[in-house]
Amino acid sequence: MRTHILLRMLAALLIVLSITTESNAQRREWCIASPGATDALLQESMELICTFGGIDCSMFEPGRPCYLPNTLRHHASYAFNSFYQKYKKHGTPCNFNNTAITVLGDPSHDSCQFEYIP
Ligand SMILES: *[C@@H]1O[C@H](CO)[C@@H](O)[C@H](O)[C@H]1NC(C)=O
Repeated sequence: MRTHILLRMLAALLIVLSITTESNAQRREWCIASPGATDALLQESMELICTFGGIDCSMFEPGRPCYLPNTLRHHASYAFNSFYQKYKKHGTPCNFNNTAITVLGDPSHDSCQFEYIP
């Protein structure tokens, strides 16, 4: 029967789609400062995206949830991730002049939430 074939194809399609969704869910990526990046370059990239990137860099100002640890590397990571999450759907890579890398683990800690946009 033609209906049975269509139902089987539909079932197969649903299985494929659910597998795809699952593997995407397992590959959740955040963008943070690269361990190899110098402070000078991190600073440069961070200033650039905080000034022109259309992201909220107030989260790591004194007294805000992402201020601590008060390191350039941590603040740059927060900024890089915000920028990456916002623009990755347009194909923007996590790179920032080779000062950033993607990680699979959520860098959020305490009350500091590193955004993740599916
Ligand atoms: C990119 O990195 C190079 C060194 O690797 C540096 O000379 C240059 O100023 C950086 N450009 C920007 C826009 O940060």
